[in-house]
Amino acid sequence: MTESAPARVFADRTEACRTLAVGLAELVSSINASGRPAVLGLATGRTPLPFYAELIRLHREGQLSFANVITFNLDEYLGLPGGHPESYRAFMQRELFAHVDIPLGNVHIPDGSVTDIPAHCTAYEKAIRDAGGIDFQLLGIGRTGHIGFNEPGSPRDSRTRQVHLDPITREDAAPSFGGLEHVPTHAISMGCGTILEARKIALLAWGKAKAFIVKEALTGPVTDQVSASFLQNHPDATFYLDAEAGAEL
Ligand code: GLP
Repeated sequence: MTESAPARVFADRTEACRTLAVGLAELVSSINASGRPAVLGLATGRTPLPFYAELIRLHREGQLSFANVITFNLDEYLGLPGGHPESYRAFMQRELFAHVDIPLGNVHIPDGSVTDIPAHCTAYEKAIRDAGGIDFQLLGIGRTGHIGFNEPGSPRDSRTRQVHLDPITREDAAPSFGGLEHVPTHAISMGCGTILEARKIALLAWGKAKAFIVKEALTGPVTDQVSASFLQNHPDATFYLDAEAGAEL
């Protein structure tokens, strides 16, 4: 176990995303060369957009294929009507899957319209185990320090489950939903325990609004009040930051 996750601070987000995307393409191809699919944990939000743009570029240049990739997304809002543009399923299709060669049967995203939520969450955990566990997990960070939707108070060993969204998280989501009253109050999220079992983790953060929480996550106490702080005890977790997000380190 490391005592603190390493941070790599880049001049800008494009450079950070290029570096990480090239590294991920190498990882996927070496796992595929060993004769098995690569299992990726994927994230949503504004932060991963330039990273997905780099993955699409590498795919178009013939340097990255998703033909033998299985994906699991971190989370999904509960209660949005099917096909809602702010659903994470719609986001992933628009920002990544429509532009690469991933077989749609290899894509897993929690379903925010299910009636039996506990059974769905148990099945999601089982699907991750059946795929052999997650090789690489991509993360953003919320202003509450959350990873996935693991808001303050989420235990270190939490699993995929229904969660209640923090008021700060809902406020941050309000502009894209056209007002706070349209933002769902609950979601399904992989737990901290689910995320921490990934063999390799990269957390991305850009801009000065993230600088304080990045510092807390990397150098503050390991606490369930900042779920990203659990990454300090992961053997292979790296923070990819632009200069602004890394400014308080
Ligand atoms: C949401 C997502 C998180 C994401 C966070 C930050 O809460 N569930 O996975 O990290 O938003 O969003 P953004 O990247 O837009 O700042």
